[in-house]
Amino acid sequence: MSGFSARTGFPRTWNPLARALDERRRRGLPLLDLTETNPTRVGLPAPEPALLASPGALGYAPEPQGLLPAREAVAAHLASRGAPVSPGHLVLSASTSESYGWLFKLLCEPGDNVLVPAPSYPLFEYLTRLEGVEARTYRLPRAPGFGLDVEEVAAARDARTRAVLVVNPGNPTGHYLHEGELEALGRLCAEAGLALLSDEVFSDFAWDEAPGRVPTVAGRELPMLTFSLSGLSKVAGLPGLKLGWTHVGGPAALREEALARLELVADTYLPVNTPVQLALPGLLAHAPRFQQALLARVKENRRRLLQARPAEARWDVLPAQGGWSTVLRIPLEPGEEATCLALLDEGVCVQPGYFYDFTGGAFLVLSLLPAPEHFSAAMEPLVRVLATSG
Ligand SMILES: Cc1ncc(COP(=O)(O)O)c(C=O)c1O
Repeated sequence: MSGFSARTGFPRTWNPLARALDERRRRGLPLLDLTETNPTRVGLPAPEPALLASPGALGYAPEPQGLLPAREAVAAHLASRGAPVSPGHLVLSASTSESYGWLFKLLCEPGDNVLVPAPSYPLFEYLTRLEGVEARTYRLPRAPGFGLDVEEVAAARDARTRAVLVVNPGNPTGHYLHEGELEALGRLCAEAGLALLSDEVFSDFAWDEAPGRVPTVAGRELPMLTFSLSGLSKVAGLPGLKLGWTHVGGPAALREEALARLELVADTYLPVNTPVQLALPGLLAHAPRFQQALLARVKENRRRLLQARPAEARWDVLPAQGGWSTVLRIPLEPGEEATCLALLDEGVCVQPGYFYDFTGGAFLVLSLLPAPEHFSAAMEPLVRVLATSG
């Protein structure tokens, strides 16, 4: 079609699952939605909205990296997670997604590429393409629980690769980056002149403690340029407030050049809105309450799922260490989509693994956020439908 850019020509046809879901909703049939990941819709604690109405909320103080008190609040949050950082090395944006766009502008010429993990969050394809950048996939092998295999990363690289993206912990795989993986990645990135983009939006949501995990690359001495990304959407469960942050790290000269250039990129888009920046210290002070409630919810729902699984079942709940979702490995027949459609007929909505680019088997992805009574009510039809597979 003439007149439009090729990079906005994404397919817009609905898959059979989206059509069936729409039909069910239009007919007003009941639905137990185990794809719900909107933290504002599942009855978790929210902060006082009055936080957004501070004196000065309507003022405007252009500061490309973000207002200093807001960046100090992010630095204090990271310090409380064991990552002491300077507020001078932080850049605020309107979301993690916007941060990605800025980083692709910073690092890539049109036609360059970045390496993205698979299986993973499906938005990278869009975020890269909209910036004229190619997303090249490196596989996370299932055997060590979807951990990072640096050989896979190295094999995916070519002469136009500029950066490696890691999602830590993985969404929806829930695998945390480990010290050995980071060390190997550091060697590869330093040798090949690649930057590391570490998406840490779920990093605060570990289900248990374990030695050797890397909760964040912020504040660490690493041999390559590093960007660690997070924001209010997951940390405080407030995606509607549109605030993300990027910590820039790595060798000092590279870091300073990156910050100077990012300042210009940020300035071009004008700063994050004032009310949310002024509210940030209060919003981050609320985050632990939200996170505790969310973790209790996620663990309880996962416990119910494990309890509901019959001992002789031909499906498994995959091991994971954190995040908001859980992955089931199901029999190859009748397959992901047919199973999702059969579940939908029973009023239960789950996602097929192919949404996240799983390969080498059949998988379902379930959100662990729904209220426990909803989650529990979905267990009987889930177990019944899965019993007919294979
Ligand atoms: C791994 C990951 N990164 C980034 C985002 C987007 O976050 P934001 O709302 O800050 O753009 C999501 C949203 O689900 C996500 O799952």
